Amino acid sequence: MKLLITGGAGFIGGNFVYHILSKYPAYQIICIDALTYAGNMETLAEAMKNPNFIFIKEDIANREEIYLIFEKYSPDAVVNFAAESHVDRSIKKPDIFLRTNVIGTGVLMDACRMYSTSRFHQVSTDEVYGDLPLDRPDLFFTEETPIHASSPYSASKASADLLVLAYHRTYDLPVTISRCSNNYGPYHFPEKLIPLMIANALNDKPLPVYGKGENIRDWLYVKDHCEAIDLILHSGKLGEVYNIGGHNERTNLEVVKTIVWELGKPESLITYVSDRPGHDLRYAIDPSKINRELGWLSATSFDQGIKQVIKWYLENSSWWKNILAREHHNAMKSSYLRFDKFEKN
Ligand code: NAD
Ligand code: DAU
Repeated sequence: MKLLITGGAGFIGGNFVYHILSKYPAYQIICIDALTYAGNMETLAEAMKNPNFIFIKEDIANREEIYLIFEKYSPDAVVNFAAESHVDRSIKKPDIFLRTNVIGTGVLMDACRMYSTSRFHQVSTDEVYGDLPLDRPDLFFTEETPIHASSPYSASKASADLLVLAYHRTYDLPVTISRCSNNYGPYHFPEKLIPLMIANALNDKPLPVYGKGENIRDWLYVKDHCEAIDLILHSGKLGEVYNIGGHNERTNLEVVKTIVWELGKPESLITYVSDRPGHDLRYAIDPSKINRELGWLSATSFDQGIKQVIKWYLENSSWWKNILAREHHNAMKSSYLRFDKFEKN
């Protein structure tokens, strides 16, 4: 099998590269990544030593170059992780989200059509469903929940999903889509809640909680997500959407307090800051379809997973410290590591 993985230098794509290399040592992986601020070759350092792993720095929206890559390698299947993935950045600057997340997905699917690739898997998100109210814990996102995106990021991912399903219907392109809840784990970029809080707490810096910290996310350990995508890729039904989640709902404040407690830091580091505009209240996945049809269940509880992740960040401090050092040379320092991210500027 020749598997083309996009976005492999990012958080989930990187974990998926290692999942495939260890589980299917005979597979050849062609990894395409544009190495944006979120892409990191340090994440792929071990993979680069594997003769079955090829890395190509390229933008998925660059049609000519993407076609040339398909021409040269003729992949059997594509798993598309490449995306602009941070909601806060999409609020500040939406245009790049449209180019990568929508146009880029279209270019990859056109390449799949042109070179008769036998599977295109789109890695999507539960955010396409919008949010659920905080006072209705009985409600969950199913695959039938209407698309109702809130942020420019989630709207771009929802647009891509619609395009993927349209390519299946119109061109019979062999597609699958997965919609997963919030991931956490190794190689998570320290702009997202969990790695940011770990890094700030370790540096005795304030921990910026948006609003009152009441918003709820449904956390999934990244390795469980990789297992689920693997199953969908090998056994999923064409044209189908699969929700992925493990019933690990926590308020943001609960997550931050757990990190503070595990690291032995004072709760006085917690700082309430202005809320994210359009902030989704609650995400919660009903994973019964993937469980019923493919036998997938999440293996890691949040209480186990958060301990493993904190341990990883402690043992791999050079990975995230290098990122923070690099970002301090960029504009990110002023816009993403400070508190008043959403104040008018
Ligand atoms: P990430 O931001 O850590 O990584 C994205 C990767 O894509 C980076 O390596 C980046 O360099 C690359 N990339 C960006 N633009 C590109 C382009 N134009 N061409 C080629 N490469 C490009 O993101 P992540 O958290 O690993 O998310 C991966 C995918 O999973 C995304 O599609 C995201 O929407 C989806 N997802 C993420 C989560 C989550 O909790 N992180 C949950 C559900 C779904
Ligand atoms: O649900 C899946 C989605 O999860 C993915 O599609 C996205 O790519 C991924 O980034 C994530 O989106 P969120 O917006 O939920 O993740 P983030 O880590 O940015 O924020 C999680 C929650 O924590 C959210 O309610 C906002 C809050 N937050 C976040 C940051 C960065 C804070 O309170 N303070 C912060 O500093």
